[in-house]
Amino acid sequence: MSDSAADGAYGTEGTRKEPGLPVGAGDGTRAVRAGLPEPVKHEPTLPGPVFAAHFHLPGDPTGPYTYGRDENPTWTLLERAIGELEAPGQESVETLVFASGMAAISSVVFSQLRAGDAVVLPSDGYQALPLVHDQLQSYGIEVRTAPTGQDAQLEVLDGARLLWIESPSNPGLDVCDIRRLVEAAHARGALVAVDNTLATPLGQRPLELGADFSVASGTKQLTGHGDILLGYVAGRDAEAMAAVRRWRKIVGAIPGPMEAWLAHRSIATLQLRVDRQNATALALAEALHGRPEVTGLRYPGLPDDPSHKVASQQMRRYGCVVSFTLPSRARADRFLEALRVVDDATSFGGVRSTAERRGRWGGDAVPEGFIRMSVGAEDPADLVADVLRALDETAH
Ligand SMILES: Cc1ncc(COP(=O)(O)O)c(C=O)c1O
Repeated sequence: MSDSAADGAYGTEGTRKEPGLPVGAGDGTRAVRAGLPEPVKHEPTLPGPVFAAHFHLPGDPTGPYTYGRDENPTWTLLERAIGELEAPGQESVETLVFASGMAAISSVVFSQLRAGDAVVLPSDGYQALPLVHDQLQSYGIEVRTAPTGQDAQLEVLDGARLLWIESPSNPGLDVCDIRRLVEAAHARGALVAVDNTLATPLGQRPLELGADFSVASGTKQLTGHGDILLGYVAGRDAEAMAAVRRWRKIVGAIPGPMEAWLAHRSIATLQLRVDRQNATALALAEALHGRPEVTGLRYPGLPDDPSHKVASQQMRRYGCVVSFTLPSRARADRFLEALRVVDDATSFGGVRSTAERRGRWGGDAVPEGFIRMSVGAEDPADLVADVLRALDETAH
Protein backbone atom coordinates (compact mmCIF):
# COMPACT_ATOMS: atom_id res chain seq x y z
CA MET A 1 0.00 0.00 0.00
CA SER A 2 1.33 3.43 -0.87
CA ASP A 3 1.91 6.09 1.77
CA SER A 4 -1.03 8.09 0.55
CA ALA A 5 -3.29 5.04 0.59
CA ALA A 6 -2.20 4.29 4.16
CA ASP A 7 -2.89 7.87 5.21
CA GLY A 8 -6.17 7.93 3.36
CA ALA A 9 -7.31 4.60 4.72
CA TYR A 10 -6.58 5.01 8.37
CA GLY A 11 -5.47 8.50 9.29
CA THR A 12 -3.18 8.68 12.25
CA GLU A 13 -3.46 7.55 15.82
CA GLY A 14 -5.66 9.70 17.98
CA THR A 15 -7.18 11.75 15.18
CA ARG A 16 -10.69 11.39 13.85
CA LYS A 17 -11.47 12.51 10.35
CA GLU A 18 -14.49 14.72 9.88
CA PRO A 19 -17.16 12.35 8.63
CA GLY A 20 -18.16 15.05 6.12
CA LEU A 21 -21.87 14.39 6.64
CA PRO A 22 -24.57 16.93 5.85
CA VAL A 23 -25.55 18.99 8.90
CA GLY A 24 -28.35 17.22 10.72
CA ALA A 25 -27.77 13.87 8.98
CA GLY A 26 -30.05 11.18 10.40
CA ASP A 27 -29.03 8.09 12.32
CA GLY A 28 -29.26 5.82 9.28
CA THR A 29 -26.93 8.03 7.27
CA ARG A 30 -24.53 8.34 10.19
CA ALA A 31 -24.54 4.59 10.81
CA VAL A 32 -23.77 3.60 7.22
CA ARG A 33 -20.93 6.12 7.00
CA ALA A 34 -19.58 5.86 10.54
CA GLY A 35 -15.82 5.65 10.68
CA LEU A 36 -15.28 5.33 6.94
CA PRO A 37 -11.98 6.73 5.72
CA GLU A 38 -11.66 9.26 2.94
CA PRO A 39 -12.19 7.40 -0.33
CA VAL A 40 -8.96 6.21 -1.94
CA LYS A 41 -8.98 5.22 -5.60
CA HIS A 42 -8.93 1.45 -6.04
CA GLU A 43 -9.30 0.84 -2.31
CA PRO A 44 -12.48 -0.65 -0.77
CA THR A 45 -14.91 1.66 1.02
CA LEU A 46 -14.22 -0.15 4.28
CA PRO A 47 -10.65 -1.45 4.14
CA GLY A 48 -10.36 -5.13 5.04
CA PRO A 49 -9.05 -6.40 8.37
CA VAL A 50 -5.35 -5.84 8.92
CA PHE A 51 -3.83 -9.01 10.32
CA ALA A 52 -0.57 -7.99 11.90
CA ALA A 53 1.22 -8.82 15.13
CA HIS A 54 3.80 -6.13 14.31
CA PHE A 55 4.33 -3.44 11.72
CA HIS A 56 7.45 -2.41 9.80
CA LEU A 57 9.22 -0.11 12.20
CA PRO A 58 12.73 1.01 11.24
CA GLY A 59 14.37 3.56 13.51
CA ASP A 60 12.70 5.09 16.54
CA PRO A 61 9.59 3.17 17.59
CA THR A 62 7.00 5.87 17.01
CA GLY A 63 3.31 5.28 16.17
CA PRO A 64 0.71 5.13 14.91
CA TYR A 65 1.29 1.40 14.34
CA THR A 66 4.08 -0.41 16.09
CA TYR A 67 2.92 -3.58 17.81
CA GLY A 68 -0.42 -5.37 17.45
CA ARG A 69 -1.37 -5.30 21.14
CA ASP A 70 -1.15 -1.49 21.18
CA GLU A 71 -2.84 -0.43 17.96
CA ASN A 72 -4.29 -1.81 14.77
CA PRO A 73 -5.63 0.12 11.75
CA THR A 74 -8.86 -1.91 11.75
CA TRP A 75 -9.46 -0.86 15.36
CA THR A 76 -8.77 2.76 14.44
CA LEU A 77 -11.64 2.82 11.95
CA LEU A 78 -13.99 0.97 14.31
CA GLU A 79 -13.09 3.29 17.20
CA ARG A 80 -13.79 6.25 14.99
CA ALA A 81 -17.17 4.78 13.98
CA ILE A 82 -18.26 4.14 17.56
CA GLY A 83 -16.99 7.57 18.64
CA GLU A 84 -19.02 9.26 15.93
CA LEU A 85 -22.18 7.54 17.17
CA GLU A 86 -21.55 7.91 20.92
CA ALA A 87 -20.49 11.56 20.70
CA PRO A 88 -21.35 13.16 17.36
CA GLY A 89 -19.23 16.22 16.69
CA GLN A 90 -17.20 15.86 19.89
CA GLU A 91 -13.72 15.52 18.48
CA SER A 92 -12.10 15.32 21.91
CA VAL A 93 -13.86 12.07 22.76
CA GLU A 94 -11.58 9.06 22.53
CA THR A 95 -12.85 5.53 21.95
CA LEU A 96 -11.01 2.28 22.65
CA VAL A 97 -12.17 -1.18 21.62
CA PHE A 98 -11.72 -4.33 23.69
CA ALA A 99 -12.07 -8.08 23.40
CA SER A 100 -15.43 -8.10 25.22
CA GLY A 101 -17.77 -5.95 27.24
CA MET A 102 -16.24 -7.28 30.45
CA ALA A 103 -12.78 -6.32 29.24
CA ALA A 104 -14.07 -2.79 28.63
CA ILE A 105 -15.78 -2.60 32.04
CA SER A 106 -12.70 -3.94 33.80
CA SER A 107 -10.45 -1.45 32.01
CA VAL A 108 -12.35 1.48 33.49
CA VAL A 109 -12.90 0.08 36.95
CA PHE A 110 -9.40 -1.28 37.48
CA SER A 111 -7.57 1.64 35.86
CA GLN A 112 -9.44 4.36 37.78
CA LEU A 113 -9.65 2.92 41.30
CA ARG A 114 -6.91 2.56 43.91
CA ALA A 115 -6.83 0.92 47.34
CA GLY A 116 -8.77 3.10 49.76
CA ASP A 117 -11.15 4.46 47.09
CA ALA A 118 -14.89 3.82 47.17
CA VAL A 119 -17.02 2.83 44.18
CA VAL A 120 -20.79 2.59 43.73
CA LEU A 121 -21.98 -0.35 41.64
CA PRO A 122 -25.55 -1.33 40.72
CA SER A 123 -27.02 -4.10 42.88
CA ASP A 124 -29.20 -5.19 39.94
CA GLY A 125 -26.76 -4.97 37.03
CA TYR A 126 -25.16 -7.49 34.72
CA GLN A 127 -24.51 -10.74 36.52
CA ALA A 128 -20.69 -10.63 36.21
CA LEU A 129 -20.55 -7.38 38.24
CA PRO A 130 -20.54 -9.29 41.57
CA LEU A 131 -17.26 -10.88 40.42
CA VAL A 132 -15.86 -7.39 39.84
CA HIS A 133 -17.22 -6.43 43.26
CA ASP A 134 -15.29 -9.21 44.99
CA GLN A 135 -12.10 -8.52 43.05
CA LEU A 136 -12.24 -4.82 43.94
CA GLN A 137 -12.76 -5.63 47.61
CA SER A 138 -9.76 -7.93 47.57
CA TYR A 139 -7.70 -4.94 46.39
CA GLY A 140 -8.84 -2.84 49.35
CA ILE A 141 -11.46 -0.82 47.47
CA GLU A 142 -14.72 -0.11 49.25
CA VAL A 143 -17.68 -1.29 47.17
CA ARG A 144 -21.13 0.14 47.80
CA THR A 145 -24.20 -1.02 45.89
CA ALA A 146 -27.55 0.54 45.11
CA PRO A 147 -30.46 -0.46 42.89
CA THR A 148 -30.82 1.32 39.55
CA GLY A 149 -34.39 2.57 39.89
CA GLN A 150 -35.35 5.86 41.58
CA ASP A 151 -31.78 7.16 41.68
CA ALA A 152 -31.04 5.21 44.86
CA GLN A 153 -27.33 5.74 44.13
CA LEU A 154 -27.62 9.28 45.56
CA GLU A 155 -27.74 7.83 49.08
CA VAL A 156 -24.30 6.24 48.84
CA LEU A 157 -22.34 8.73 46.74
CA ASP A 158 -20.52 10.72 49.42
CA GLY A 159 -16.79 10.15 49.18
CA ALA A 160 -17.01 7.80 46.20
CA ARG A 161 -14.40 8.02 43.45
CA LEU A 162 -16.50 6.31 40.75
CA LEU A 163 -20.23 5.83 40.17
CA TRP A 164 -21.07 2.92 37.85
CA ILE A 165 -24.50 3.15 36.22
CA GLU A 166 -26.25 0.51 34.13
CA SER A 167 -29.34 2.05 32.56
CA PRO A 168 -31.51 0.36 31.45
CA SER A 169 -30.38 -2.37 33.80
CA ASN A 170 -30.04 -5.96 32.71
CA PRO A 171 -32.28 -7.93 33.20
CA GLY A 172 -34.73 -5.83 35.25
CA LEU A 173 -34.92 -2.89 32.77
CA ASP A 174 -34.92 -0.23 35.46
CA VAL A 175 -33.74 3.24 34.46
CA CYS A 176 -32.14 6.03 36.48
CA ASP A 177 -31.86 9.75 35.76
CA ILE A 178 -28.33 9.84 34.37
CA ARG A 179 -28.03 13.63 34.18
CA ARG A 180 -29.19 14.06 37.77
CA LEU A 181 -26.80 11.40 39.06
CA VAL A 182 -23.91 12.83 37.05
CA GLU A 183 -24.48 16.27 38.55
CA ALA A 184 -24.60 14.84 42.06
CA ALA A 185 -21.50 12.70 41.47
CA HIS A 186 -19.47 15.51 39.90
CA ALA A 187 -20.41 17.83 42.74
CA ARG A 188 -18.78 15.28 45.06
CA GLY A 189 -15.73 14.80 42.83
CA ALA A 190 -16.72 11.35 41.56
CA LEU A 191 -16.34 10.10 37.99
CA VAL A 192 -19.35 8.52 36.28
CA ALA A 193 -19.38 5.57 33.90
CA VAL A 194 -22.54 4.39 32.16
CA ASP A 195 -22.97 0.89 30.75
CA ASN A 196 -24.74 1.71 27.48
CA THR A 197 -25.04 -1.86 26.22
CA LEU A 198 -28.78 -2.18 26.23
CA ALA A 199 -29.56 1.20 24.70
CA THR A 200 -26.77 1.31 22.08
CA PRO A 201 -25.43 4.72 21.05
CA LEU A 202 -28.53 5.22 18.88
CA GLY A 203 -30.72 4.82 21.95
CA GLN A 204 -28.77 6.89 24.46
CA ARG A 205 -25.65 9.06 24.54
CA PRO A 206 -24.29 9.05 28.09
CA LEU A 207 -21.46 11.48 27.33
CA GLU A 208 -24.01 14.10 26.25
CA LEU A 209 -25.80 13.48 29.55
CA GLY A 210 -22.56 14.42 31.30
CA ALA A 211 -21.00 11.01 32.01
CA ASP A 212 -17.24 10.65 31.88
CA PHE A 213 -17.29 7.22 30.24
CA SER A 214 -19.76 5.40 28.05
CA VAL A 215 -18.90 1.72 28.21
CA ALA A 216 -20.60 -1.15 26.41
CA SER A 217 -20.61 -4.71 25.33
CA GLY A 218 -20.55 -4.58 21.54
CA THR A 219 -21.43 -8.26 21.63
CA LYS A 220 -25.11 -7.33 21.81
CA GLN A 221 -27.17 -5.04 19.59
CA LEU A 222 -24.26 -2.88 18.43
CA THR A 223 -23.00 -5.73 16.27
CA GLY A 224 -26.27 -7.63 16.39
CA HIS A 225 -25.58 -11.01 14.82
CA GLY A 226 -24.65 -13.05 17.88
CA ASP A 227 -21.34 -14.06 16.34
CA ILE A 228 -18.65 -11.89 17.94
CA LEU A 229 -17.60 -10.61 21.33
CA LEU A 230 -16.51 -6.99 21.59
CA GLY A 231 -16.42 -4.11 24.04
CA TYR A 232 -15.62 -0.43 24.01
CA VAL A 233 -14.99 2.58 26.22
CA ALA A 234 -15.64 6.13 24.99
CA GLY A 235 -14.47 8.96 27.21
CA ARG A 236 -13.71 12.63 27.01
CA ASP A 237 -11.02 13.03 29.67
CA ALA A 238 -7.61 12.52 28.05
CA GLU A 239 -5.87 11.56 31.30
CA ALA A 240 -8.52 9.04 32.30
CA MET A 241 -8.52 7.56 28.81
CA ALA A 242 -4.72 7.29 28.85
CA ALA A 243 -5.09 5.09 31.94
CA VAL A 244 -7.74 2.98 30.18
CA ARG A 245 -5.45 2.60 27.17
CA ARG A 246 -2.58 1.62 29.45
CA TRP A 247 -4.77 -1.00 31.10
CA ARG A 248 -5.62 -2.47 27.68
CA LYS A 249 -1.92 -2.73 26.95
CA ILE A 250 -1.13 -4.34 30.30
CA VAL A 251 -3.94 -6.88 30.18
CA GLY A 252 -3.92 -7.36 26.42
CA ALA A 253 -7.70 -7.73 26.23
CA ILE A 254 -7.77 -6.72 22.58
CA PRO A 255 -10.21 -7.65 19.81
CA GLY A 256 -8.95 -9.62 16.84
CA PRO A 257 -8.84 -7.67 13.57
CA MET A 258 -11.50 -9.93 12.06
CA GLU A 259 -13.89 -9.26 14.93
CA ALA A 260 -13.20 -5.53 14.72
CA TRP A 261 -13.87 -5.49 10.99
CA LEU A 262 -17.07 -7.55 11.34
CA ALA A 263 -18.23 -5.15 14.02
CA HIS A 264 -17.61 -2.16 11.78
CA ARG A 265 -19.44 -3.81 8.90
CA SER A 266 -22.37 -4.55 11.22
CA ILE A 267 -22.64 -0.97 12.43
CA ALA A 268 -23.72 0.04 8.91
CA THR A 269 -27.07 -1.66 9.59
CA LEU A 270 -27.38 -0.50 13.22
CA GLN A 271 -30.20 1.96 12.63
CA LEU A 272 -32.17 -0.54 10.49
CA ARG A 273 -31.80 -3.28 13.07
CA VAL A 274 -32.44 -1.12 16.09
CA ASP A 275 -35.54 0.51 14.65
CA ARG A 276 -37.01 -2.81 13.54
CA GLN A 277 -36.13 -4.73 16.70
CA ASN A 278 -37.19 -1.98 19.07
CA ALA A 279 -40.52 -1.41 17.30
CA THR A 280 -41.25 -5.14 17.50
CA ALA A 281 -40.23 -5.17 21.17
CA LEU A 282 -42.86 -2.52 21.85
CA ALA A 283 -45.45 -4.49 19.86
CA LEU A 284 -44.60 -7.62 21.83
CA ALA A 285 -44.79 -5.79 25.15
CA GLU A 286 -48.19 -4.43 24.17
CA ALA A 287 -49.35 -7.92 23.22
CA LEU A 288 -48.19 -9.31 26.58
CA HIS A 289 -49.84 -6.49 28.48
CA GLY A 290 -53.00 -7.80 30.06
CA ARG A 291 -52.22 -11.51 29.52
CA PRO A 292 -53.40 -13.15 32.76
CA GLU A 293 -50.34 -15.41 33.15
CA VAL A 294 -47.85 -12.55 32.68
CA THR A 295 -46.75 -10.46 35.66
CA GLY A 296 -43.93 -7.96 36.14
CA LEU A 297 -43.94 -7.01 32.46
CA ARG A 298 -41.16 -4.48 31.79
CA TYR A 299 -40.33 -2.48 28.69
CA PRO A 300 -39.18 1.15 29.08
CA GLY A 301 -41.09 2.12 25.93
CA LEU A 302 -44.46 1.14 27.41
CA PRO A 303 -46.16 4.36 28.56
CA ASP A 304 -47.16 2.83 31.91
CA ASP A 305 -43.77 1.21 32.61
CA PRO A 306 -42.17 2.50 35.84
CA SER A 307 -39.07 3.45 33.78
CA HIS A 308 -40.92 5.24 31.01
CA LYS A 309 -40.90 8.81 32.31
CA VAL A 310 -37.17 9.02 32.94
CA ALA A 311 -36.35 6.87 29.90
CA SER A 312 -38.28 9.19 27.62
CA GLN A 313 -36.23 12.15 28.91
CA GLN A 314 -32.85 10.63 28.17
CA MET A 315 -33.33 7.85 25.62
CA ARG A 316 -34.00 8.17 21.92
CA ARG A 317 -34.96 4.49 21.58
CA TYR A 318 -35.96 2.00 24.26
CA GLY A 319 -34.07 -1.16 23.38
CA CYS A 320 -34.97 -4.63 22.14
CA VAL A 321 -35.31 -6.44 25.47
CA VAL A 322 -38.64 -7.20 27.14
CA SER A 323 -38.83 -8.95 30.48
CA PHE A 324 -41.74 -10.61 32.25
CA THR A 325 -42.55 -13.34 34.72
CA LEU A 326 -44.58 -16.51 34.21
CA PRO A 327 -46.27 -18.23 37.17
CA SER A 328 -43.62 -20.91 37.76
CA ARG A 329 -40.30 -22.28 36.66
CA ALA A 330 -42.04 -25.24 34.99
CA ARG A 331 -44.39 -22.98 33.06
CA ALA A 332 -41.48 -20.80 31.91
CA ASP A 333 -39.52 -23.87 30.76
CA ARG A 334 -42.55 -25.21 28.85
CA PHE A 335 -43.10 -21.81 27.26
CA LEU A 336 -39.47 -21.57 26.10
CA GLU A 337 -39.66 -25.06 24.63
CA ALA A 338 -42.87 -24.26 22.76
CA LEU A 339 -41.39 -21.22 20.97
CA ARG A 340 -40.54 -21.83 17.32
CA VAL A 341 -38.92 -18.63 16.05
CA VAL A 342 -37.25 -17.72 19.34
CA ASP A 343 -34.11 -19.59 20.40
CA ASP A 344 -33.63 -20.54 24.04
CA ALA A 345 -30.28 -18.81 24.47
CA THR A 346 -28.61 -16.17 26.57
CA SER A 347 -27.29 -12.77 25.48
CA PHE A 348 -29.46 -10.24 23.63
CA GLY A 349 -29.56 -7.76 20.79
CA GLY A 350 -29.15 -10.16 17.86
CA VAL A 351 -31.24 -10.30 14.69
CA ARG A 352 -32.56 -13.72 15.79
CA SER A 353 -34.88 -13.50 18.77
CA THR A 354 -33.72 -15.25 21.92
CA ALA A 355 -35.27 -15.81 25.32
CA GLU A 356 -34.19 -17.46 28.51
CA ARG A 357 -35.31 -18.20 32.02
CA ARG A 358 -32.90 -15.90 33.70
CA GLY A 359 -33.04 -17.67 37.06
CA ARG A 360 -31.22 -20.66 35.58
CA TRP A 361 -27.90 -18.84 36.07
CA GLY A 362 -28.50 -18.16 39.74
CA GLY A 363 -26.90 -14.70 39.61
CA ASP A 364 -29.91 -12.36 39.29
CA ALA A 365 -32.43 -11.61 42.01
CA VAL A 366 -35.41 -12.60 39.86
CA PRO A 367 -38.37 -14.96 40.31
CA GLU A 368 -38.01 -18.51 38.97
CA GLY A 369 -40.44 -17.80 36.13
CA PHE A 370 -38.66 -14.61 35.01
CA ILE A 371 -38.08 -14.49 31.24
CA ARG A 372 -35.72 -12.11 29.46
CA MET A 373 -36.67 -11.91 25.82
CA SER A 374 -34.52 -10.28 23.18
CA VAL A 375 -36.51 -9.27 20.14
CA GLY A 376 -34.88 -9.87 16.78
CA ALA A 377 -35.55 -8.78 13.21
CA GLU A 378 -38.19 -11.36 12.31
CA ASP A 379 -41.51 -10.14 10.92
CA PRO A 380 -43.25 -8.55 13.91
CA ALA A 381 -46.51 -10.44 13.30
CA ASP A 382 -44.68 -13.80 13.18
CA LEU A 383 -42.86 -13.14 16.41
CA VAL A 384 -45.86 -11.89 18.36
CA ALA A 385 -47.97 -14.80 17.08
CA ASP A 386 -45.28 -17.30 18.09
CA VAL A 387 -45.07 -15.93 21.62
CA LEU A 388 -48.84 -15.81 22.11
CA ARG A 389 -49.23 -19.33 20.68
CA ALA A 390 -46.52 -20.64 23.01
CA LEU A 391 -48.29 -19.02 25.97
CA ASP A 392 -51.65 -20.51 24.94
CA GLU A 393 -50.23 -23.98 24.32
CA THR A 394 -48.52 -24.14 27.70
CA ALA A 395 -51.43 -22.86 29.74
CA HIS A 396 -52.20 -26.31 31.19
C1 LIG B 1 -25.26 -4.80 30.42
C2 LIG B 1 -24.10 -5.66 30.08
N1 LIG B 1 -22.86 -5.19 30.25
C3 LIG B 1 -21.78 -5.93 29.98
C4 LIG B 1 -21.89 -7.23 29.52
C5 LIG B 1 -20.65 -8.04 29.27
O1 LIG B 1 -20.40 -8.11 27.90
P1 LIG B 1 -19.52 -9.28 27.23
O2 LIG B 1 -20.33 -10.52 27.34
O3 LIG B 1 -19.32 -8.79 25.83
O4 LIG B 1 -18.25 -9.37 28.00
C6 LIG B 1 -23.15 -7.77 29.32
C7 LIG B 1 -23.30 -9.15 28.83
O5 LIG B 1 -24.38 -9.69 28.79
C8 LIG B 1 -24.29 -6.96 29.61
O6 LIG B 1 -25.53 -7.44 29.46
